[in-house]
Amino acid sequence: MNRFEGKTVLVTGGNSGIGLAAAQAFVREGARVVITGRDAAALETARAALGNNAIAIRNETGSVAAARELTRQLQEAGVRLDAVFINAGMARFAAVPDVDEALWDATFNANVKGAFFQIQALLPILNKGTSIVLNGSINAHIGMPNSSVYAASKAALISLAKTLSGELIGSGIRVNVVSPGPVTTPLYGKLGLDADTLAATAAQIQDQVPLGRFGQPEEIASTVLHLSAPESAFIVGTEIIADGGMSQL
Ligand SMILES: NC(=O)c1ccc[n+]([C@@H]2O[C@H](COP(=O)([O-])OP(=O)(O)OC[C@H]3O[C@@H](n4cnc5c(N)ncnc54)[C@H](OP(=O)(O)O)[C@@H]3O)[C@@H](O)[C@H]2O)c1
Repeated sequence: MNRFEGKTVLVTGGNSGIGLAAAQAFVREGARVVITGRDAAALETARAALGNNAIAIRNETGSVAAARELTRQLQEAGVRLDAVFINAGMARFAAVPDVDEALWDATFNANVKGAFFQIQALLPILNKGTSIVLNGSINAHIGMPNSSVYAASKAALISLAKTLSGELIGSGIRVNVVSPGPVTTPLYGKLGLDADTLAATAAQIQDQVPLGRFGQPEEIASTVLHLSAPESAFIVGTEIIADGGMSQL
């Protein structure tokens, strides 16, 4: 299929994991893709792998200034967007007594403030009919120990999908969320857990997935493309959960 022929798509955090898989899927279907991230080497590797239809811009999400700077660079490159995947995000787990202000601020800055102000800054360069997809998480729906700050940040995105759709629908822009369950990506190495705790946590999480396995980034990317394409035009302000049944069965 070539659902994105002639379309331009922004994928934040497109140099790794789910974002990179989504960028690859968009390119395979004809899109020109702009990816962002912080790690310059990973960005360059991803851009080279994506080929001539990809642009990489180094950008740290989490501030109004960074959001505006990304839009400025897109405008300078003459880019207007047809789809946006707000995917850049971080997860650091800690028990309630161990959560400090720095963890709270880093999580909410990257996952919520960055998402909101990036969308705000992009508004002037969104084409009519633009689809915005936010990367949520089933953590917003389940009471997984040690995930309180991360889960709350993802719950905020689900709320934003509704309110922003309500405001932007008149401009032909819709906002939805894809909420993955556990997916095999580098994210788990960044949770802040030591190797033994990480292995035990991963095994415990896998036990809770009725399908009996972690998902693959491509399995989330396929839902992102569906929500980004006109075929899903009637899906507005809501969430698709892709979690192997973890939150539902
Ligand atoms: N893997 C899962 O099980 C799972 C489940 C549910 C939801 N998610 C969500 O999926 C999204 C992608 O995560 P992933 O699993 O694919 O992990 P990942 O491979 O670690 O990717 C995270 C991406 O976000 C970027 N990023 C993080 N903080 C950033 C910041 N402050 N500024 C700019 N870019 C930043 C990273 O870029 P740099 O490396 O260059 O910083 C990277 O491209 C996240 O929002 C995560 O919460 C993941």
